[in-house]
Amino acid sequence: MASSSIKNVLVTGANGNVGSSTIKALLEENFSVTGLTRDSSPATLSEGVRHIKSDYSKASLVAIFKGQDAVVSTFSSLVPGGALANQQLVIDAAIEAGVKVFVPSEFGIDTADPAAPTYLPFLQDKLDTVAYLKTHEDKISWIAIPTGSMFDWNLNIPGFAGWNVPARTATIYDGGEIPFEATNLDQTGRAVAKSLKHFELTKNQYVYANSFTITQNQVLKALEKATGEKFEVSHGSAEAVWQEGAKPENSGQVTGILSLLTGVIYGKGGLSNFSVTKGLWNKKLGLEQENLDEFLKTYIAEKKLQ
Ligand SMILES: NC(=O)c1ccc[n+]([C@@H]2O[C@H](COP(=O)([O-])OP(=O)(O)OC[C@H]3O[C@@H](n4cnc5c(N)ncnc54)[C@H](OP(=O)(O)O)[C@@H]3O)[C@@H](O)[C@H]2O)c1
Repeated sequence: MASSSIKNVLVTGANGNVGSSTIKALLEENFSVTGLTRDSSPATLSEGVRHIKSDYSKASLVAIFKGQDAVVSTFSSLVPGGALANQQLVIDAAIEAGVKVFVPSEFGIDTADPAAPTYLPFLQDKLDTVAYLKTHEDKISWIAIPTGSMFDWNLNIPGFAGWNVPARTATIYDGGEIPFEATNLDQTGRAVAKSLKHFELTKNQYVYANSFTITQNQVLKALEKATGEKFEVSHGSAEAVWQEGAKPENSGQVTGILSLLTGVIYGKGGLSNFSVTKGLWNKKLGLEQENLDEFLKTYIAEKKLQ
C-alpha cells in the first residue's frame, strides 16, 4: 500500500495516452483510483477504476473531487480548443473540494525554463498553470513531472521525430550524437504513481524522470538490432526542422507542432537534456530506468513490426 498520505487519486482525461498509463501504474501501487472523462467522451475504463463523467462545470467538479487526495491532470495538448487552459478551473474546484495535491498535465519538455514557450508556444498554458499553483500553495500542493520526449508515442507516429519504423527509414539530426531524455508511456504513469507515493519529498517540486537518456545514433542501432534490418538514413538539422514548424502557415497545425517538437527534442532551445541540467529523481523515487535494447525488442514484437 502507498505509504504517503495520498490514498484516493482521480485522473482527468483518464482514457488518453498518459491517462491510461497513469491509471495502470496507480492501480499497481494500490491507490484507490477514479477516472474522470467528459460527458461527451465514449471512453470506457479498465476494471478496478471508478469511472465518473462530468460536464466540467465547477459545481460538478467540486462534488466529484470531494474525498480525493490527489487530482492528476492528463489533458491533451495537441487538440484545438485549449484543453490545457481548463486546468485553472479544475485547480479551483480541487481547492474548494479540499484536495491535497494537483499534478498538472506536463509529461514532456522542461517547463521550469521560462524560455520554453519561445520554442513551443503551446507550453505557455503549462507554465501559466504551474505559476497559478505556486500562488496557491497555501491551499493545495503540486507536483510537475517533466519526462522529455514520449519515446514509444513518438515511434507510434510514422515519420515523427525522424523515425519511420514500418518503412525502415530514419532522419538523423545534426549527426545523431545529441543526448536527449526519453520516457515511455508506462514509465510516465509509474513516475506519477511513485511521485504521489513519495508525496512528502515531491510536493511543490519539478520532479524530473525518464526511461533513458539516449542519442539518435543509439536508437538507430537498437532499432536495426530489434528489426534485424538496415534503415535507410537521411540527414537534417534541428534548426531547419524547427524553422519549418515555426513558419506562420504551420502555426497551430499538428504537423507544425510536430516539427517544432522534433527540433526541440534534438537540441533547439537546450530544453531536452534535463538529466544533466536538473538531475533525475528516478533513484529517489525507486523508479528504475529502462534498457533501450530490451524495450525496443519488446516494442517491435508487440507491434508486429519485425
Ligand atoms: N513529450 C511528449 O512527446 C508527449 C507526448 C504525448 C503527450 N505529452 C503530454 O502529455 C499530456 C497528456 O497528453 P495525452 O497525449 O495523454 O493526451 P490525449 O490522449 O490526446 O488526451 C487526453 C484526454 O484529454 C481530454 N480532453 C481533450 N480535450 C479536452 C477539453 N477541451 N477539455 C477537457 N478534456 C479534454 C480527453 O478526455 P475525455 O475522454 O474526457 O474526452 C482525452 O482523452 C499533455 O500535456 C501532453 O503535452 C507529451
